[in-house]
Amino acid sequence: MAFVLAAAGSAVGLGNIWKFPSEVAQQGGAAFLMMYLGCCFLVGFPVMVAEIAIGRATGKNPVGAFKALSPNPIFPLVGLWGILCGVMILSFYTVVAGWSLGFVFGEAAHFLGFQGAAEVLMVVGPGTKTAVFAALFMAATTFIVSSGVSEGIERVAKTLMPLLIGMMLLMIAFVVTREGSGEGLAMYLKPDFSKVDMSLVFQALGQAFFSLSLGMGALITYGSYMSRKQNVVESAAWVTLADVGIAFLAGLLIMPAMFVAQKSGIQIYKDASTGDGVAAGAKVLIDEDGLVFTVLPQLFESMGSGIGLVFGVGFFVLLSMAALTSTISLLEVPTSYAIDELGMSRKKAALMFGCVITAIALVISYRLSLIGTFATIFSTIGLPVGGLMICLFMAYVWKTRHALAEMEAGYPGIQSSLFAKFWPPLMAVVCPLLILTVLVLTLIQQFQ
Ligand code: TRP
Repeated sequence: MAFVLAAAGSAVGLGNIWKFPSEVAQQGGAAFLMMYLGCCFLVGFPVMVAEIAIGRATGKNPVGAFKALSPNPIFPLVGLWGILCGVMILSFYTVVAGWSLGFVFGEAAHFLGFQGAAEVLMVVGPGTKTAVFAALFMAATTFIVSSGVSEGIERVAKTLMPLLIGMMLLMIAFVVTREGSGEGLAMYLKPDFSKVDMSLVFQALGQAFFSLSLGMGALITYGSYMSRKQNVVESAAWVTLADVGIAFLAGLLIMPAMFVAQKSGIQIYKDASTGDGVAAGAKVLIDEDGLVFTVLPQLFESMGSGIGLVFGVGFFVLLSMAALTSTISLLEVPTSYAIDELGMSRKKAALMFGCVITAIALVISYRLSLIGTFATIFSTIGLPVGGLMICLFMAYVWKTRHALAEMEAGYPGIQSSLFAKFWPPLMAVVCPLLILTVLVLTLIQQFQ
């Protein structure tokens, strides 16, 4: 249970609740949902098994793990690339997490009548407030990682997940009774496959890696702490299901809430002006970075002040906690690398990376367009590239049969299981080919 909780804590976060609904709203609803589910189960789950197996077999950080399993000099570089991606992802992630933290106090101030404070706190724009909360969030993350409290994470995740799911279910129940919600539900659940194009598949694949915490070695690192009594395949399945389930619920909440907000006069989409490759008259989201932060406070407002206070504060507390269990995993990767490979103490390593990341986060706080740029380079492209290399390593360097033998610890029947039939060809052919095709075709499209 401990591993599943920690890994699910890493997976469930802003990716599910902030990013996923915005992607869905932008990319035409159900078509994106379908592609995302496909990517999670067909590519994400097999890669997750691979990462955990590599971690558990070696007990090492991403760079050390590749070194331990093969003398090939390329793969430790893949580990280093993963660490770079982690550092850069955390730099913008912490800015958004800071917004969530600010909204905890903002919602409280709003419902308790301190409108001036609320107006300052509930802003998702560039500036000093954003910088201060981002720095606070990084300080908390650095403190936790430097003191190495892994049991704490599991306890947090254990109470957090049911509370988050319960609260979202209540909010969904509330929102679907309101005028306008039907339109959002239809957009989310009725697939229109004419909307599927290369850029949608590219975004869906990147989102699957980001949401499942794959492609940069976070699960190699967490796997390195996993006991040999545990079943790797089953654990990966639970983490995937928990993550996908919570993303699905977030969509089920935010898509209807968007249209409810629109009915009450808030502008959500605007007609695109020409340029940027967007057809004139197409609907684009006004505020793609702030969907949860614009639409949900509106919903809390409509609940009345007593219930609104409880839900508003409660929701952003849970979202901030979910983000914290994710930032911890993002910082743990470079930290464990510096401890093992550079011989640093845990305190020094966490502090060093914590400071570097905070510095980048401060720059991002004043230049928010960097969030999109970094997300594209280090997440939507960077993580699938890492995942591709992990598949190739598994199939052609370490070999899936050795991994299957390793995974017998904790899963004695694995050799005769269905998993042992499907996983090797997925690693050798299907996943690498899919990832490569999506990346190459997207690249080609850029030059057309
Ligand atoms: N998966 C987390 C989320 O959805 C973010 C995250 C944590 C992550 N650790 C990661 C993303 C490692 C990529 C790699 O919010």
